[in-house]
Amino acid sequence: MEKIGGMTLKRPITDEVKKTVLEDLAPEIHEIKDPKLKQLVVDAWALSCCTSSFKRITDIPGWGGPDDFYLKRGNQADHLRGVARFSMLMADDMVKHYPEVIVDRDICIAGALCHDIGKSYELDPVNQTRWKADPSASGDPTFRHSIYGVHITLTAGLPEVIAHICMGHSLEGQFVTLSTECMVVRHADHVWWYIGCSMGLLDPKSIGIAGPKMKPRKLRTELNQAAE
Ligand SMILES: [Fe+2]
Ligand SMILES: [Fe+2]
Repeated sequence: MEKIGGMTLKRPITDEVKKTVLEDLAPEIHEIKDPKLKQLVVDAWALSCCTSSFKRITDIPGWGGPDDFYLKRGNQADHLRGVARFSMLMADDMVKHYPEVIVDRDICIAGALCHDIGKSYELDPVNQTRWKADPSASGDPTFRHSIYGVHITLTAGLPEVIAHICMGHSLEGQFVTLSTECMVVRHADHVWWYIGCSMGLLDPKSIGIAGPKMKPRKLRTELNQAAE
């Protein structure tokens, strides 16, 4: 089996796979103005999918991690696109009201769409089974999605600033100084999960990490069902 950057390809990276990336990340991916950066986002996600059991981004479950924050409805593409929209809102609002600030909008969008690119590896059932079988041999996980995302993005040729966002958006980010664009995506990511949790979008069994004070509101659909 062919290897790229130490990762084994489970299927060839074809134009068809790249087309699914564009479909799954639309319309937000089209906000990236630099065509080369946009293409590299597509290439990196195609590499991520083809080295994983998940055939396309929408096949990856809408989870924060293997044990945390399970979306009741939606998949990983819904999360990535939501974080991209939140990142744009934050960057655009600051620039609108404080035109003296400098923030790279393209890097925010590309970084948001790639920040969880390593979840194809961390949430892969084959890897999960392998790690659970003997964590003393492999670790569990061997790499978290944030770190594996660094590997995928750099291998695909994305710039270092995007790999930095993969690393820094998650727990690892508390140990280093973050770029401005990473700060935007990290907070957009966390706000997306915590607001979604409070509004009742997450499976209550998966919200322990939000702490004992988190008491989600019921969804309209759940209230309607209870009233029937
Ligand atoms: Fe993440
Ligand atoms: Fe995320």
